[in-house]
Amino acid sequence: MSADGFSGGPPPGAAADWTIDQGWSAYTAEEHATWDILYERQTALLPGYACDEFLHGLDALDLHRGGIPDFNVINPELERLTGWNVVAVPGLVPDDIFFDHLANRRFPAGQFIRRRDQLDYLQEPDIFHDVFGHVPMLTDPVFADYMEAYGKGGQRALGLGRLHNLARLYWYTVEFGLLETPKGLRIYGAGIVSSRTESIFAIDDPSPNRIGFDLLRTMRTPYRIDDFQQVYFVIPSIQTLLDATLQDFAPIYAALDEGQDVPIDAILPTDRVFTRGTQAYAASGGRLAGA
Ligand code: PHE
Ligand code: FE
Repeated sequence: MSADGFSGGPPPGAAADWTIDQGWSAYTAEEHATWDILYERQTALLPGYACDEFLHGLDALDLHRGGIPDFNVINPELERLTGWNVVAVPGLVPDDIFFDHLANRRFPAGQFIRRRDQLDYLQEPDIFHDVFGHVPMLTDPVFADYMEAYGKGGQRALGLGRLHNLARLYWYTVEFGLLETPKGLRIYGAGIVSSRTESIFAIDDPSPNRIGFDLLRTMRTPYRIDDFQQVYFVIPSIQTLLDATLQDFAPIYAALDEGQDVPIDAILPTDRVFTRGTQAYAASGGRLAGA
């Protein structure tokens, strides 16, 4: 993950590219146990919720061995499968640093793990979100290509002053994307699979809209960072997503200037609708209402 608003260089102890040593041997028993609780909960839930690509990736990386994964252990296998590596960072990194890592097939993962009172929700990505949520999909060759392309597209968007447009694509695919499968809708987005409550919400709840992915439509739609999504976009395959993003985005960015944002809960006549959501969750006040 990345965030705007950084000034100056990396924090003390971090390299120029913001990476740090994971310091695996310094994790406490309590921290390893927090991983195990989260891991057990999600792996028990996710069959029937997460897509096969994700579940296969989870198996391939053998994250089962207990406790927080050691990047030195998972990287050789990840490297062998798709040429990706996980690198440790203290937390959110500046956008240019983030894109440079992705463009070179390095996924920056937060080194820290959440506290016990944050099992269900925290706003900053920790190692559970970054590794459990993101890394399994990086074992899929097509998704691996998409993430590298996104890094390069991010560098380009930064130069064009278009990051606000591109960020929505990341949000509605990499973080909160759904996949259409013969067995029904399945999750591939890391922000969903790393959250027990949002996994259930994204697939089962009648509140959110679920709409067929369309590049321009997605980039016209604002998102919420503080609660369950009001709309999820569904791709027919990972390949479709990669194909849609291979085109030159400069004309897409220009086209975005011609139209307006779509309200977050709107359904357009041109939308392919999987679920016309009730929006009951958002209407009730969502997380703030303790719903
Ligand atoms: N094709 C995009 C461009 O021309 C780059 C990109 C690829 C962006 C994949 C996102 C995902 O800028
Ligand atoms: Fe993330």
